[in-house]
Amino acid sequence: MASSTLSPWTLLVLVIMSFGTLGPKLVEARAFFVFGDSLVDSGNNNYLATTARADSPPYGIDYPTGRPTGRFSNGLNIPDILSEQIGSVPVLPYLNPELTGEDLLNGANFASAGIGILNDTGIQFVNIIRMFQQLQYFIQYQQRVAAIIGPEQTQQLVNGAIVLITVGGNDFVNNYYLVPFSARSRQFSLPDYCRYLISEYRKLLMRLYELGARRVLVTGTGPLGCVPAELAMRSRDGQCSQELQRAASLFNPLLGSMLRELNSDYGDDVFIGVNLQRMSNDFISNPQRFGFVTSKIACCGQGPYNGLGLCTIASNLCPDRDLYGFWDAFHPSEKANRLVVQSFMTGSLDYMNPMNLSTILAMDSKI
Ligand SMILES: *[C@@H]1O[C@H](CO)[C@@H](O)[C@H](O)[C@H]1NC(C)=O
Ligand SMILES: *[C@@H]1O[C@H](CO)[C@@H](O)[C@H](O)[C@H]1NC(C)=O
Repeated sequence: MASSTLSPWTLLVLVIMSFGTLGPKLVEARAFFVFGDSLVDSGNNNYLATTARADSPPYGIDYPTGRPTGRFSNGLNIPDILSEQIGSVPVLPYLNPELTGEDLLNGANFASAGIGILNDTGIQFVNIIRMFQQLQYFIQYQQRVAAIIGPEQTQQLVNGAIVLITVGGNDFVNNYYLVPFSARSRQFSLPDYCRYLISEYRKLLMRLYELGARRVLVTGTGPLGCVPAELAMRSRDGQCSQELQRAASLFNPLLGSMLRELNSDYGDDVFIGVNLQRMSNDFISNPQRFGFVTSKIACCGQGPYNGLGLCTIASNLCPDRDLYGFWDAFHPSEKANRLVVQSFMTGSLDYMNPMNLSTILAMDSKI
């Protein structure tokens, strides 16, 4: 090949392409995949016969359309804001019929409200997309993309993607602690249950790796005992529920060690531990510092702390959602989601281990 006929720019592009790691779309953003529960579901449950849904007002009141979308937020959720940061368009729920053709190349959101690590978590919600099914859909997704750009480019797209997985909270709230003397709580002590969850979670993450994921942000559970629902049901004097806080503080360190082991097995920083408990504790323990009037009372709900029952059109609704850490009894407001994603981007090792997302984006763009 006569290199004198090639412009420096063309050469640069050829050099980059020859590494092959940037995927087929040099100029476009990398793909983004989301797995997990209601903290990251962008509307898959709208297409299912389940009670775990957020598709009626006032959900979405601050979304650009002002309408409910299935996100468990007054506006944007964590994946939306992460997409902004990665520089991609918000990824559509996998079950959304509009997710076809070229749109598939941006990625997909497989998350489903109510699910957990275990299949028996969230059984009261009946039809939800459990983790093994989310992974099955990921395989189907790759087959659909391969039909458009071929198997090799599909592999590159998946290898080059950012993946987010948020699961585990429901294994406590909607399983172990769902009712007194639940089957799982009779079977396992809390520490043993946490170890069991981690061993099952490990299998799911290894499966994600087998399916091509190479940069996976894995969030621990949030401060389970401090959400308005638990303050309403279990707390005296507005203190966080000790039992659920104990669950989070047993589970999260075990998760951190498991991720470090996996990375050392794979010889690469595939899994990034995201300390959601710490990130949320910041605005829970000092709401005023972040411009909130409260992080105990939900904006939308009823009963003590607006923490009982569902957020519906009949609930109390705060006039300014940006002043509340929690939108409903379990889920942060858009404003809180923005703070959390800011920590994803620039957090120190206590928040993002072994590195934060801005480091990942800078590093991978140099490959
Ligand atoms: C969940 O169910 C699927 C399908 O029945 C099964 O393949 C998988 O092993 C189950 N997972 C667990 C943790 O029991
Ligand atoms: C996180 O991001 C900031 C820049 O945004 C950087 O200075 C810092 O070193 C990063 N920390 C880690 C642990 O990667």
